[in-house]
Amino acid sequence: MTETIQHDLPPPLDVKINRVAADAESTAGTHDVSMDTIVELCKRRGIIFPSSEIYGGLRGAWDYGPLGAALKDNVKAAWKRNMLQLRDDIVQLDAAILMHPRVWEASGHVAGFTDPLVECTSCNQRWRADHLEPNAKGEVYCPNCGAKDFSEPKQFNLMFRTFVGPTEDTSAQVWMRPETAQAMFVDFAHIQLTSRQKVPFGIAQVGKSFRNEITPRNFIFRVREFEQMEMEFFVRPGTDEQWHDYWIRNRWQWYIDLGMRPENLRIRDHAEDELSHYAKATVDVEYRFPFAWSELEGVANRTDFDLRQHSEFSGKDLSYYDQERDERYLPYVVEPAAGVDRSMLAFLVDAYREEEAPTAKGGVDKRTVLRLHHALAPVKVAVLPLSRNAKLVPTARQVNDVLKRRWATQYDDAGAIGRRYRRQDEIGTPFCVTVDFETVESDQAVTVRDRDTMVQERLPIDRLADYLGEHLTLD
Ligand code: GAP
Repeated sequence: MTETIQHDLPPPLDVKINRVAADAESTAGTHDVSMDTIVELCKRRGIIFPSSEIYGGLRGAWDYGPLGAALKDNVKAAWKRNMLQLRDDIVQLDAAILMHPRVWEASGHVAGFTDPLVECTSCNQRWRADHLEPNAKGEVYCPNCGAKDFSEPKQFNLMFRTFVGPTEDTSAQVWMRPETAQAMFVDFAHIQLTSRQKVPFGIAQVGKSFRNEITPRNFIFRVREFEQMEMEFFVRPGTDEQWHDYWIRNRWQWYIDLGMRPENLRIRDHAEDELSHYAKATVDVEYRFPFAWSELEGVANRTDFDLRQHSEFSGKDLSYYDQERDERYLPYVVEPAAGVDRSMLAFLVDAYREEEAPTAKGGVDKRTVLRLHHALAPVKVAVLPLSRNAKLVPTARQVNDVLKRRWATQYDDAGAIGRRYRRQDEIGTPFCVTVDFETVESDQAVTVRDRDTMVQERLPIDRLADYLGEHLTLD
């Protein structure tokens, strides 16, 4: 084998995955936590709540409050670290959400990005036909009114449309992108040239996508406005299957490295009739959500479908000249496409625990703790003066001021210290630092409490930052 050929094959990746067949059972079985518990926690702590709630909310749209926005940022940062920072062969794109309407004709979305819609003839509620669960006898009833007659299924296009400029006619019509992927195909030649990347290489993008889902459901699992983390990896035809396997393993490992329990994760192959029009092979990375095993991410072998379509529709040559092989070809594409919101939901579910915890008076209490990976935790360190006593506050503030230069901190002086520990456990804060009277009157030391072990250590203030630097696992 020549050096060139080895160069464009993936490096070996010794990662064991749990791979199941397309028709694997999707029932989740008993779970540690219910969706209602997660939704309630998110609402109570202002992590995620309905959009425009004071007007009654808007179905399929959610707002991420201070902690939710931080957690979401951390999920995206972890993805970018894996895709961009730790690699030399992937570059980033931040493309416009609105694109030329021909893009969506070329990609097949105008003709085929549809779901089957049926209407209950009794209450007129509309449903996605393939989401209606048949009972044991195979009969389907309206989940709203219980009637069993529906209209014939109609194909409903999921793309939101809007207009550019002041005229609202079809010449001004554009689509809100339903996936971030297309910009990476359309911009392929420009980016390849200007970044001087050689195939195999990837383009990665994180951003909003919009789908007019017929039945948004399961909290932030299926929504109408969401964020995707997608990467298009361009490879030489013939190496695509090896790269597909590589990216399946790479993506599995990303979830595991961020603390996801392997028993709640699986790779499910798509059946032939499940494949998208562009895909030669696809797997879903699935998570065992409380409601069912469901897709977190798809890893698809998209072949040269998209580059071919855009070459044809735009009239621009999107082929690649491989200098080392002295060959011109349309690269194949392997695409890991993940959802930010779905990953976040899975990380929340996976981290949630209800445990027994000792009280200060020697009793036993219950605590809720999010055992989030430190890199994902919205707050890394909480600084808690024992009370609001004027002697403690300046030192506690000073400690917080020093720590917040390096990490996301939260200063909390409201309520009993035990209650404050519980509040921090519930949002997954890895460390709490307590400033007490001994700190200011004698030893200039603080107590550091570990979220998971609840062990408390006494440390001199001037050792604190080093200690946290050593104990916070941020990669
Ligand atoms: N470019 C390929 C693509 O978009 P997809 O499987 O339709 O593939 C990729 O979407 C990921 O985006 C999904 O695995 C999921 O995590 C997320 N996603 C898709 N539709 C969603 C929705 N309605 N609500 C939340 N996340 C969604």
